[in-house]
Parts: sequence; structure tokens; C-alpha cells
Amino acid sequence: AYVVTENCIKCKYQDCVEVCPVDCFYEGENFLVINPDECIDCGVCEPECPAEAIFPDSDPKAADWSEVNRQYAGEWPNITRKGDAPADADDWKGKPGKKDLLSS
Ligand code: SF4
Ligand code: F3S
Repeated sequence: AYVVTENCIKCKYQDCVEVCPVDCFYEGENFLVINPDECIDCGVCEPECPAEAIFPDSDPKAADWSEVNRQYAGEWPNITRKGDAPADADDWKGKPGKKDLLSS
């Protein structure tokens, strides 16, 4: 499965949502997750993310994020349409150390 990682936090561009053929994204306040059990590994969302936040769960950059995606996919509502990104999304793009800013 593919998973969403730290780079999404406070960026939440949502371009990923538009392209997913199985609608397996779930929405939190400032982050999105993929339900790894629903993802069919098509890989289409990965290059769509302007923040480069999406990786296959086999990638070292996805370490620790599989559990986060699985957990919140069970708690947050499904999202199937792209909404507006946060007004300051570009300011947070590529910033390190955002993990503690994830709003659950
Ligand atoms: Fe959806 Fe494909 Fe991305 Fe999985 S890899 S979340 S199925 S677009
Ligand atoms: Fe997040 Fe990238 Fe989607 S910033 S909402 S994973 S397009």
C-alpha cells in the first residue's frame, strides 16, 4: 500500500484525492491518510502530491507512517473531492519536524 507521510502536514493540497480510483483517502484537520487495506497500489497519487508526501510503505521514508495511516483511516471521514488547501500551505511545504503538528 501507499501511505501519506509528514510532508502532508499543514500542506494538505488534496490533489491526491482527485486521482485515487478507489477513494481510499481519509481527512483530518491538517493531514490526510490512506487506508492501506483499501489502497490497490496503483501509484497514481504519488506524483500528484505537490509536497511529495506519498510513498509506498516499503520505502524507508514511510517508516512509522503505516501505523499512523491505518489508525486514522479508521477514525477520520472519507474524502473524495479536493477542497481548498490551507492558505499558508506553501509556507509549510518541505519543512522538517512537522510530525508533532499533526492534529488528530
Ligand atoms: Fe489510491 Fe492508488 Fe494512491 Fe493507493 S496508490 S491511495 S489506490 S491513488
Ligand atoms: Fe497531502 Fe499531498 Fe494529498 S499534501 S493532501 S498527500 S496531495
